[in-house]
Order: sequence, then structure tokens, then C-alpha cells
Amino acid sequence: MIVKKLGLCSQLFFWGLPRIVENFIRELEFAHTTVYVFSVVTCAGLPGAPLEFLDNSLKRKSQKLSYGKVIHTVANNIMEYDLNKKNMNEKLLKMKRLSLEFSKDIKKSEKTSIGRILPHHYAFHWLYLNHRVDKDENFLVTKTCTGCGTCSKICPLNNIVLENGTPSFRGHCDVCVACMQWCPQKAIHGNKRVKNRTQFHNPDIRLSEMFYRKKSTIN
Ligand SMILES: Cc1cc2nc3c(=O)[nH]c(=O)nc-3n(C[C@H](O)[C@H](O)[C@H](O)COP(=O)(O)O)c2cc1C
Ligand code: SF4
Ligand code: SF4
Repeated sequence: MIVKKLGLCSQLFFWGLPRIVENFIRELEFAHTTVYVFSVVTCAGLPGAPLEFLDNSLKRKSQKLSYGKVIHTVANNIMEYDLNKKNMNEKLLKMKRLSLEFSKDIKKSEKTSIGRILPHHYAFHWLYLNHRVDKDENFLVTKTCTGCGTCSKICPLNNIVLENGTPSFRGHCDVCVACMQWCPQKAIHGNKRVKNRTQFHNPDIRLSEMFYRKKSTIN
């Protein structure tokens, strides 16, 4: 299949991209020399340099990011902070409006300029790669777990295995917090603070879509 337009949309993690996205780009093979690569990245409000990291990874493949935008959305990294309910609906509506605007730009193959990664961006992202990922040994599953298996089906890294109906974590975790946000019993606590925090995921996304997205992802 010859792809001339490629979209890489993601959440933003620690001023860069989730490890799974970086790995995905590393695996890509481009047969076509002039691919129009676009990206829309969602963040909680402190974006750092995700588009620049993406552009860098693409340059290693002799490609570049042609169009990139960052959207500020509802902050839901439950391991780091509690949900801020202020202006939630406005943020979600603005997101939808911007998404439509960006899709029109992308249809017209419009371009944006991409900046540079600065030393403090590298430093903060390094923290993620070296001090957060794969650190799931303290993840706790409470007694409210019913063994429904949702967490195992949703985990993008297949890091959760149900053993006798109880989830266990395999040490290969991007800390995306999806298992914590989607567990119907709120039974997964990545740290002690999660217990008293509010679960949130985008209300426009259904669980079935999350399963479908995972099936269509190359691991
Ligand atoms: C591990 C992790 C790291 C994150 N790092 C940042 C960050 O550095 N800056 C920021 O603005 N948001 C950060 N976020 C927030 C997410 O980007 C935000 O929750 C997400 O875009 C919401 O998207 P969703 O609606 O698809 O769930 C982080 C989230 C997670 C899970
Ligand atoms: S999603 Fe929650 S309730 Fe279901 S198996 Fe996982 S931890 Fe248990
Ligand atoms: S936070 Fe949960 S869903 Fe995300 S990679 Fe780790 S185990 Fe999987």
C-alpha cells in the first residue's frame, strides 16, 4: 500500500510523546519519498515539545512533520493530579471545534512550522523514560475488582494479565493510566493518591472504540 498522507495523533506525555508512539514511528517504513505527515496532539496545558519530538523521529526516517497542532483538553493524568472540573464542557467543545478546523487544513494539505527541542524538554522527557515507564510494581488492585477483564483488554501494551480473575502487571507499562480511568470499579491504583481522585475519560469515546483502537494498533 502506498501512503501519501499519514496522521499520527496522540496524547502528550511529559513534554514529548508516549513511548508506544515513538516505537511505532521507529517501526515505520516509508516507500514513498513525499509523505505528508500530520499530527494533532492533546495535552493538559503544558505542552513542551511533542511536535518537535515527532519531527525529530520522522527525520530519522528521512521524513518530516508537515502539519502539527496541539490541543489543550481536560487534564486526566490521575496518577499526578486530581481532575479539574472547571470549564470541562467548554474545553471539550473547543476541542471538537478545533478538530474540525484542523481536518479542513489537513484535507488541503496545509503546512505549519515546527520548532526545536530545547534542553529542558529533553530533560523532562528523560524523566518519563527513565523514572516512570515500566514502574508498575506498586500498582494496587483493590478488593472491589470483579475480574471483568476490561483493564487487560484495554491496555495498549498487553501489560495486564488476569490470573485467577485478578489482574497482574508485567513490568511493561507506559503509565498511560487507561486501566485506572476505565476500570468500572475504580479498582486499579497506580499510587496511593489515585484512591481519592476522580476518574475521567473523554465522554465521546466508548469502551468498544477503545477495544477496536487497540486491535488496530501495531504492538
Ligand atoms: C503519563 C502522562 C504524562 C502526561 N504529561 C503531560 C505533560 O507533560 N503536559 C501536559 O500538558 N499534559 C500531560 N499529560 C496529560 C495528557 O496529555 C492529557 O491528559 C490527555 O491529552 C487527555 O487526552 P484524552 O482526552 O485523549 O484522554 C500527561 C498524561 C499522562 C497519562
Ligand atoms: S477492569 Fe477493574 S474490575 Fe475489571 S478486572 Fe480490571 S481491575 Fe478488575
Ligand atoms: S497504565 Fe495501565 S493501561 Fe497503561 S500501559 Fe500501564 S498497565 Fe497498561
